[in-house]
Amino acid sequence: MSSDIGETRLADPVVRRPRLPAIRTQLLIGGEWREPTTTAGRSVLTVFDPATGESLAEVADATVDDADAAVDAVSVAFGTWSRTSPRYRADLLRAAFDRLMERAHEFATVITSEMGKPLAESLAEVRYGGEFLRWFAEETVRTSGTTRTAPDGAAVHMTIRQPVGPALLITPWNFPLAMVTRKIAPALAAGCTVVVKPAEETPLTALLFAELLETVGVPPGVVNVLTTSRPAPVVSRILDDRRIRKLSFTGSTGVGRALLAASATGVLRTSMELGGNAPFIVFDDADIESAVEGAVIAKLRNGGQSCVAANRFIVDRRVADEFLARFADRLRAQVVGSGFDPATTLGPMISVKQRDRAAELVRSAVAGGASTVVASGIEDDSTFLGPILLDNVDRRGAIAEQEIFGPVAPVYRVDSEEEALDVASNTEAGLVGFAYSRDAARLMRAATALECGMVGLNRGLVSDASAPFGGIKQSGLGREGSEAGTHEYLETKYISHPFPAV
Ligand code: SIN
Repeated sequence: MSSDIGETRLADPVVRRPRLPAIRTQLLIGGEWREPTTTAGRSVLTVFDPATGESLAEVADATVDDADAAVDAVSVAFGTWSRTSPRYRADLLRAAFDRLMERAHEFATVITSEMGKPLAESLAEVRYGGEFLRWFAEETVRTSGTTRTAPDGAAVHMTIRQPVGPALLITPWNFPLAMVTRKIAPALAAGCTVVVKPAEETPLTALLFAELLETVGVPPGVVNVLTTSRPAPVVSRILDDRRIRKLSFTGSTGVGRALLAASATGVLRTSMELGGNAPFIVFDDADIESAVEGAVIAKLRNGGQSCVAANRFIVDRRVADEFLARFADRLRAQVVGSGFDPATTLGPMISVKQRDRAAELVRSAVAGGASTVVASGIEDDSTFLGPILLDNVDRRGAIAEQEIFGPVAPVYRVDSEEEALDVASNTEAGLVGFAYSRDAARLMRAATALECGMVGLNRGLVSDASAPFGGIKQSGLGREGSEAGTHEYLETKYISHPFPAV
């Protein structure tokens, strides 16, 4: 079956989903899979397929009592795990990488089932997520300190790095595996133990991954998983416990601010990977074909449901018509549908609510004077949204200020390099920016001027396990990936000793 969704083709939305692998759906606390502590019968959280709305599974719904039990377990395990050798931890992470690659298809099936992205993208996520395991396995044995002679020659100053302590990791629904591995791998590499709270929408991948870690020999209590429909009380309870020393969160800026406030009481180390509002600049001397290629990746990877998705296309007026025409062709060629249909290039959005939010931003942009170059049908109660391309968008509208988190591409025409860079940084967010030009000096000017933590030059993708991922301004604190990723879970201790007399 296929029909039209605006200008793009709708693949069969109910193509048969493969059977899910067996997944433990209880809480993982101290190496035991347990039912939640409750006096009111079995408490469950239902996980839905966003393509069909069908129920996929029921998982345990943790309470604050389970939060207490998880903190007990993670604290006890820290005592031994933090003293294990780096080589031992490295070997476990490497074994986890190997096992994940062997089971890549199984994991991809679970990701597509609960998150919706096309199977090929889920496989790409398994490779991307796996790279954090391999990268941090290698980093585990490279944690370094320093020595320095005091300027007066009287002492030698050494620094050593030690694990921060038990950590709470809160992960989002858009990359159900990669955001989990991007946090667990550096934490374990550094010698920290963790409680993971995956997103309510996509807990199955995290549960399957926790089981994989058990099978390769990660000891009980080192990784604990709490799935819950009550994130606020459960998370507060954990953050209020002085045994927890670290919080790592990926999600919206609003929730991030609240978590930062909650972390202040315990003076926790925090890593905050928050929302973006990425500018994608096309200068007048850009290679337009390559800019369009980058734009498709930067906009449509994960259906635009990513904090590094291009949010504002800032295009020099002299090349705007050509860019728009070619970009529109590529957007019209997308096939919207179930992630399990091999024809699909754009899956469902995670929920009707998210789809409606994106659609509302489009409506208000059009009301503000934007013209629609590529349109999408918007059916009631559907999670599907085809790509939408808007031209001449008002720079002060809601769509310019908010993270769209969907396949909507607004274009803002500008007249000069200065204007492009001004518009690009005119936002409270500062995660990533992209710029296209054939002039190396201009690219470096743009990279220096852009107010963000990451810049893609003539590239529409910056995500990589070996690179420091993170933002400035309202987009967060800290970095994930690269050697910086391990440092987020390490404290520097300075030791002073009299300089040995000769
Ligand atoms: C995110 O959207 O939070 C992460 C995206 C990425 O790692 O590429």
